[in-house]
Amino acid sequence: MKILVVGGAGYIGSHMVKHLGLAGCAVTTLDNLSGGHADAVLHGTFVQGDIADRALLDRLLAEGRFDAVMHFASFIQVGESVVAPAKYYQNNVVNTLNLLDAMVAAGVKRFIFSSTAAIFGEPQSDTIDEQHRQQPINPYGRTKLMVEQALADYDRAYGLKSVCLRYFNAAGADPAGELGERHDPETHLIPLVLQAASGRRSHISVFGRDYDTPDGTCIRDYVHINDLCQAHWLALQSLMGGAGSQAYNLGNGSGFSVQEVIDTARQVTGREIPVVYAERRAGDPARLVADSRAATSQLGWKPQFAALETLIEHAWAWEQKRAVQL
Ligand code: UFG
Repeated sequence: MKILVVGGAGYIGSHMVKHLGLAGCAVTTLDNLSGGHADAVLHGTFVQGDIADRALLDRLLAEGRFDAVMHFASFIQVGESVVAPAKYYQNNVVNTLNLLDAMVAAGVKRFIFSSTAAIFGEPQSDTIDEQHRQQPINPYGRTKLMVEQALADYDRAYGLKSVCLRYFNAAGADPAGELGERHDPETHLIPLVLQAASGRRSHISVFGRDYDTPDGTCIRDYVHINDLCQAHWLALQSLMGGAGSQAYNLGNGSGFSVQEVIDTARQVTGREIPVVYAERRAGDPARLVADSRAATSQLGWKPQFAALETLIEHAWAWEQKRAVQL
């Protein structure tokens, strides 16, 4: 199979490129390196470029004869999307439509889209399934929902089949230690906690301890990066098998609080990890946990690295490697 991975030099994309390479696919990565790293692309061909560049897309798609496109090239910071919405609408919506239009023109009819739990907004239930109300509370979530809506229209009008995968909290690292999370600046809880463990950071700030949760800190559903890659792989098989467009929520179905993440990281690393209790961060719901039963029953997806300890062990191995390199 020939796959174009857009954003394949980033955190999730680079793990996907490796996954596809190991499965025997011919992979082309397109990435503008605004957040990614060329040395994270471990398989196939790397093209540095932007999905805003229609001529480049037309050329790539004509030459590549791809069976499918996977799209990971988005800006992802909720807080930044509030103060710089234009950046988010331009890249996450306008440039994505540019990519979809180039696909339609080239006759490439299968698309796998990185979506997010942020399309749902404030949770109305303990776990969030695909029927949950979609009412995003920040521009980031709105950009992802707009693309999901456009995809439904593109299917009806142009026959473009897509699978939207709404990640909850993507975390962990390649179990073989070759890849991991390398955001700059890093804003995600687990890598920050582990940077505090390795001494690259003085402490971890806990954003709020007065939430309506058992220990007062926010609860999230952390899902291992390799399990997310496996979900993409199954989604690809499904599209290749002729299935119609679909959307799935991807998480482990169990939530862990910020405090539990820190406690588990202390056990895994054997380090102290200094904590500073800080104010709530704007826009954080108290609890976000996925109901992923649809992905299990329809795609056959079952997370292999569901234990928080395993996820933190893999992220810790990566952090230790990074701490030595930097
Ligand atoms: N947190 C801290 N201290 C930190 C960083 C995070 O206490 O230094 C807390 C946050 O307040 C939150 C939890 O840890 O309660 C997880 O925060 P992350 O930033 O790691 O992840 P989010 O849940 O905010 O965001 C993730 C993705 C977003 C996506 C969202 C959808 O990064 O792209 O899930 O639910 F929109």
